[in-house]
Amino acid sequence: MGIGATAGVAAVGGIALSAQASSNPSSSSDSLTFDPDGYSKLTKTITDTEGTEHEVTYHFWKAITYVADPVDATYQSLIVSAPVEIDGKTVDPTDAPILLANSVGGYMPSSVADATEVGGGGSAMGGGAAPSGAAPSSATSAAPGANGNTNASGGATSSNQLLALAAGYVVIEPGARGRTLKNSGGEYYGTAPAAIVDLKAAVRYIRANKGLIPGDVERIVSAGTSAGGALSSLLGASGDSPVYEKYLKELGAADASDAIFAVGAWCPITDLEHADGAYEWNWGTNDLSTGAQVDQSVSKDLKAQFAEYQAGLKLRGLDGFGPLNARNYDDYLVEQYLQPSATRYLTGLSDSDRETYLAANTFITWSAGKATFTWADFLTHVGARKKDTPAFDAFDLSAGENNEFGAGTTENRHFTAYGAKNDTTGLGTKRVAADIPAKLNLMNPMYHLMEKVNDRRSRHWWIRLGTNDSDTSHVISANLAARLDNLGDDVNHLYYWDQGHGANTDPGDFITWIAEVTGHGKGKKGKRN
Ligand code: DHB
Repeated sequence: MGIGATAGVAAVGGIALSAQASSNPSSSSDSLTFDPDGYSKLTKTITDTEGTEHEVTYHFWKAITYVADPVDATYQSLIVSAPVEIDGKTVDPTDAPILLANSVGGYMPSSVADATEVGGGGSAMGGGAAPSGAAPSSATSAAPGANGNTNASGGATSSNQLLALAAGYVVIEPGARGRTLKNSGGEYYGTAPAAIVDLKAAVRYIRANKGLIPGDVERIVSAGTSAGGALSSLLGASGDSPVYEKYLKELGAADASDAIFAVGAWCPITDLEHADGAYEWNWGTNDLSTGAQVDQSVSKDLKAQFAEYQAGLKLRGLDGFGPLNARNYDDYLVEQYLQPSATRYLTGLSDSDRETYLAANTFITWSAGKATFTWADFLTHVGARKKDTPAFDAFDLSAGENNEFGAGTTENRHFTAYGAKNDTTGLGTKRVAADIPAKLNLMNPMYHLMEKVNDRRSRHWWIRLGTNDSDTSHVISANLAARLDNLGDDVNHLYYWDQGHGANTDPGDFITWIAEVTGHGKGKKGKRN
């Protein structure tokens, strides 16, 4: 289906959406053709990570529906921001990289329908909202900074979107359906795989509008945090995979590639069907914040499942570590990620601040400019685990992920054999539903990297995680990074010392990395594959 051919269908979609949606994003003259002249001119003062202010004038396109037959245009719309003048100098965004910044948090719906400026996306979870620290500009955001492309610790000045704009990049922010959306018939229409299908449709829209939409559509760099980080990695891993085709067709997605160039993923909550085991392997000995211990026999069962899964992956650790398994993964995390993270942190402190920190954290040995410690001491340092066991497929169906795998009028479902077997809600069946295995594949980047190695995947990966983040196991990101590295991809994966869930403490480095991998500003293009 070409862009031109979709016009008639789009008109129908346009009528449907204005009746259904609370707001009414423009669908570009009822077609999937981007209107290059449909912008307003805005100016924003953006403070960079060095504290320098930049005056950025940019063209802003308010919400554009990116599919011809939207289910709910409030979510299936995107906003575009393209800089034209920075600090009084004209810039041409035509060939600039495109930062595709989603604001998904908690697998909840995220919308840009009411956004009036760059950084205007927000999820119902409360992230990705207006980075100015003022009232969020999206109707669905609650509070800024909890997730997404805003930075919980750095706030206003360091959101990926603002820094990207000030660097001369085009910023596109897509909304996406999320797990809690329910229609008048009581059907959940935003559960898996809705969010990833929507993000792919957004990419197809962008690529189909090559030459009309600002930016280099061959240099799309996705960014997201937590559930949004999971979707960002999935978008990168699954480029052009045929398994999404029927869903994209149903929406009237543009007929174009949905492969993207690079991925930024902060604390991705992914590999959901293996996350319960990985969680117990990692945090199994840590108590809950109430001081209570989790069920040790459940924890032990899940840990054993992890050992089997990890062995089957046959991954090798970065930098010549060798085969990764449940017995050596603690050493791997300590050597590859945690000690270097603490070392970077401590190196950056003044001598007196470092002394104070080390006096308060005697588990760290500081010698010859390097931090060393044991895994057991690290776990004690992190303290309370965030989630009870199982962390993702809860026996009582109370986890957000149970809702993510809901379908039809069923709000919550099990998605692991172990969760289903131990169900406490009185379900008639002790097995997962027949459609679950395929849905898990649609939601898991590892599927596209292990079972079916996708050669249309992104080749450049920026992965970040706070060392204190117990929303999932540290193994989840590390496995993703190891697999990508083993496939020969370019992986930049670091941990932020003592940071929690959603941290983004080096956003300026991410912006620089985008220039490096895309070749932006060097008069040449980054290597595609
Ligand atoms: C998010 C956090 C979680 O703990 C989780 O299970 C899923 C998503 C989030 O912050 O997006």
